[in-house]
Amino acid sequence: MHLAETILAAAAAITGAAATYQKMDGFGFSLAFQRANLITNMSDKTKQRELLDLLFNRTTGAGFSILRNGIGSSPNSNSDFMNTIAPNNPGGPAATPQYQWDGKDSGQLWVSQQAVSLYGVKTIYANAWSAPGYMKTNNRDTNGGSLCGVPGASCASGDWRQAYANYLVAYINLYAAAGVPISHVGFLNEPDYSASYASMQANGQQAADFIKILHAALEAANLTSSLGIACCDSMGWGNQANMVNAIRSANAEPFLKAVTSHTYTGGPSGAMNTRVPVWLSEQCDLNGGWTTGWYANGGAGEGLTWANNIYTAVVNNNVSGYLYWEGVQWPNPNTNEKLIRVDNQTNTYEVSRRLWAFANWSRYVRPGAVRVGVSGGGNGLRTAAFRNEDGTIAVVAISASGSAANVNVKISGGEGAAAVQAFVSDGTRSCAATDATLGQDGIISGSVAARSITTFFILPAGGKQGR
Ligand SMILES: *[C@@H]1O[C@H](CO)[C@@H](O)[C@H](O)[C@H]1NC(C)=O
Ligand SMILES: *[C@@H]1O[C@H](CO)[C@@H](O)[C@H](O)[C@H]1NC(C)=O
Ligand SMILES: *[C@@H]1O[C@H](CO)[C@@H](O)[C@H](O)[C@H]1NC(C)=O
Ligand SMILES: *[C@@H]1O[C@H](CO)[C@@H](O)[C@H](O)[C@H]1NC(C)=O
Ligand SMILES: *[C@@H]1O[C@H](CO)[C@@H](O)[C@H](O)[C@H]1NC(C)=O
Ligand SMILES: *[C@@H]1O[C@H](CO)[C@@H](O)[C@H](O)[C@H]1NC(C)=O
Repeated sequence: MHLAETILAAAAAITGAAATYQKMDGFGFSLAFQRANLITNMSDKTKQRELLDLLFNRTTGAGFSILRNGIGSSPNSNSDFMNTIAPNNPGGPAATPQYQWDGKDSGQLWVSQQAVSLYGVKTIYANAWSAPGYMKTNNRDTNGGSLCGVPGASCASGDWRQAYANYLVAYINLYAAAGVPISHVGFLNEPDYSASYASMQANGQQAADFIKILHAALEAANLTSSLGIACCDSMGWGNQANMVNAIRSANAEPFLKAVTSHTYTGGPSGAMNTRVPVWLSEQCDLNGGWTTGWYANGGAGEGLTWANNIYTAVVNNNVSGYLYWEGVQWPNPNTNEKLIRVDNQTNTYEVSRRLWAFANWSRYVRPGAVRVGVSGGGNGLRTAAFRNEDGTIAVVAISASGSAANVNVKISGGEGAAAVQAFVSDGTRSCAATDATLGQDGIISGSVAARSITTFFILPAGGKQGR
């Protein structure tokens, strides 16, 4: 028998009385480096739709709300390369560019179209790993190098900054014409790492210099009302914090819509020094063998670990957007880089419980939700609460304990609860409905299963009840 824990979720966005924190942009993943083709090329159309539903459906899948696409820089599609829309040097930065649009974009355009038109996804992050090679100091899109023209990077071929900005605008316009409005554009990926694949280096001063040019180009193209710049997808939090400080010093911070960082050389370590929403824009387990498990020993690929990773980023580090690395990938390499393993030889797939850990957040904590204060939660419970734009409230509880805990959830400061639904993910359940009851006194009684993530989704009294 357990004493009931009381979780008090302050509906502060209603009353303004209690603490409110960051506004959420959502949860997502990438299909860069031709992973999108595993869905787009899937010949079994039933399975193709199942994969889309697993990723984007808010009733049967994770309900992801952010898609991060790679803007190709490679001259061809060899290996898993993403081909660019401008493979040929037109003869200098001032020459008329020769865009070659294949209408596929490494399979990403089709998935983006489905995300937008079927599932209402509004946050499409288009992110270039590099400029085309001829715009760079090393004359290739791989192996680092810098954009010609940024401070400290001069090239015999000239200053390619404006041409690179125009190129990104051209890509954005191609997507818009195909029915996919891009919301965020990034021009760097891991600028502190020189990779054998597409990569381009930059420090904060160089990034700030290009941010100003790109912003002016977006403004000239009348794109800034619906789209903004994301930067810089550093390898880890430390380098990103340094880049943000340099961008602030150069007065380029107002031109950013998101500050983005990966975690490979260091995860979130406190709120970033910026007023711009911060996204943990890429994380995964690169080391462990493929696992679909929920909990065995707290391993890096397990579902419960990811429920907690998201908690740490969102609750302790002011993160507004949280993206896994790849949504789908081939069986090889046999790692946890992906949420779903798709074998395109046999047309079969396998879903990891990491996806269901995301689902308990992503389905109920929607874009525009404000994180609100929450108190209570002993017995090894980690709790967080959010008020969605439509007035619904999501209370997320993660149990580290080996036994179940009864909980009471009480909403303070708002119009009270009209109804509640509860969902649980653990070793056997994938966002399954679980019992929760709303008492006459407005207190919701429910239970958080051992080592689970349980979400209480609360419809407010009198408020709109849509999802
Ligand atoms: C998808 O089809 C394209 C041709 O449109 C091909 O180049 C690519 O290798 C295919 N990829 C997969 C994963 O099937
Ligand atoms: C999501 O799944 C539900 C349940 O299967 C289905 O009714 C709905 O059509 C799906 N949504 C979309 C956009 O496909
Ligand atoms: C600029 O974009 C806005 C919003 O998308 C649109 O309403 C307006 O007509 C556009 N202006 C021009 C000059 O194209
Ligand atoms: C948290 O992020 C928001 C932007 O999403 C920002 O306005 C706020 O200042 C940040 N809070 C802290 C404590 O840094
Ligand atoms: C599977 O994907 C690989 C890598 O993109 C591709 O080379 C191959 O042709 C695909 N196989 C099938 C049967 O689609
Ligand atoms: C939430 O997590 C529980 C396991 O703790 C799982 O059973 C449930 O299916 C998950 N809910 C969603 C929506 O994925």
